[in-house]
Amino acid sequence: MKETINGLSVFLEGNSNNKSIIFVHGFPYDHTMWQAVVDELSENYFCVTYDIRGLGESPAGNGQFTMESFVDDLEAIIIKLKLDKPVLCGLSMGGYISFRTLERIPDKFSAAILCDTRSEADNNEGKLKRAAAIKRINTEGLAPFVRDFVTTCFGNDFKKNNKDIFEMIIEKSSDFDPVGVKGCLLAMLSRTDTTANLGKINIPTLIICGEQDALTPPHLMKEIFHKIKKAEFVEIPNAGHMTPIEKPGDVASAIKNFLLKAFK
Ligand code: MLT
Repeated sequence: MKETINGLSVFLEGNSNNKSIIFVHGFPYDHTMWQAVVDELSENYFCVTYDIRGLGESPAGNGQFTMESFVDDLEAIIIKLKLDKPVLCGLSMGGYISFRTLERIPDKFSAAILCDTRSEADNNEGKLKRAAAIKRINTEGLAPFVRDFVTTCFGNDFKKNNKDIFEMIIEKSSDFDPVGVKGCLLAMLSRTDTTANLGKINIPTLIICGEQDALTPPHLMKEIFHKIKKAEFVEIPNAGHMTPIEKPGDVASAIKNFLLKAFK
């Protein structure tokens, strides 16, 4: 079922009486990156996905986004759907939103799942890369940037064995509103560092990382794992940065096992 909340496209699957999980996608993708995982979880969990403002079906408006406005959007969805202590699950940019959400409104969640992400803010080199990406989109259009960026996200196995799906993903993201994509780049560029809050996260937390993740590699995610009190770490073999698309079965199994332990 689809709903519009705060102008955002929100998608609901499963029985709303079950424990809810709210999924926050990465950049430059949309809610469908979680679909194969949601298909495996929605029998036992109420799964909420949405398109982050400016991406997928959620309109870009003026493109003036910040990490704070992304957290405001997430909170608005939780309030509108009356989700009772949902599990928060974010990947990469969705992880940045999740880390800041756990800093701002920690009491709203019962568990967290953080996939292929980092708690640090962009360093100078990272900020300059974002600025160069915006300049490139302004001069060349969105498609060349999307192709290069998405190519770095996926592991070699997936790119070799799933050429059609890979091309479809690139095509879909290339059709997004460039205003929204650039707004996301600026929001990521200007986000705060949430590393100091990791030690304060006091809910069961699952850290998932693709073995071949070139953007947020396992050694980085292990540092996050060591800083969170009730954390568990799962590495997904033969996967890059986009674990829920590349290895949905492995990711769904890791989430199922984790939630069974967390809520037994
Ligand atoms: C993502 O997958 O969301 C991006 O890699 C995040 C980023 O560009 O930092």
